[in-house]
Amino acid sequence: MELHELLPSIIADNKVHARWLNTLSLMENTGARKISASEDPLTVTYIILKHAAEEHRHAFYLKKQLEKTGAEQCPTYAPEYLLAPAVSKYYLNQLDVEVCRYLKKELGLTGKDLRFAAYLLVTYAIEVRADELYPVYQDALDAAGSKINVKSIILEEEGHLEEMISQLKKFSAEWELHAKKAVEFETRLFDGWVKALAGELAAV
Ligand SMILES: [Fe+2]
Ligand SMILES: [Fe+2]
Repeated sequence: MELHELLPSIIADNKVHARWLNTLSLMENTGARKISASEDPLTVTYIILKHAAEEHRHAFYLKKQLEKTGAEQCPTYAPEYLLAPAVSKYYLNQLDVEVCRYLKKELGLTGKDLRFAAYLLVTYAIEVRADELYPVYQDALDAAGSKINVKSIILEEEGHLEEMISQLKKFSAEWELHAKKAVEFETRLFDGWVKALAGELAAV
């Protein structure tokens, strides 16, 4: 099952759609908090500040879009307001764990350097995903004639991917090799997430 096959049934049910938006909001918020947590208080740059601010905005914006479903609101990220809550929470943290393990083993990084390199690779992999996921979701919204839209997120996510690539180029001449590895970890986790979503939707 692929995500684009699940989206029409998610969008068709206001209650499920609200929980989907809340789940995306949770994941954006997790990403935003990870970026903020990896910031070095002294050397944090314009790009990193901009990126953190925009990811926080995405979490808020998705929460705001949720009002348009007309369904009961999702006031918090408690499991009953999410889709596949356990896997949705696990996805980003696990990606971080796997990327850190890889960086320690392959590059021998620790401390500050490890934190920064993990920020680069985890965020890169997520941006690759975001650049695929949001346009697919927007297409499904358009097809359903929904009032909800994520076009402003799509625009910012495109900028993020370019920014991550330019930071990765400064980080390592072999950045593509490491980035490919991060995307591999992410793809496995994302497929597990979609599977969990499909399972939950089948049960609704
Ligand atoms: Fe985002
Ligand atoms: Fe982003």
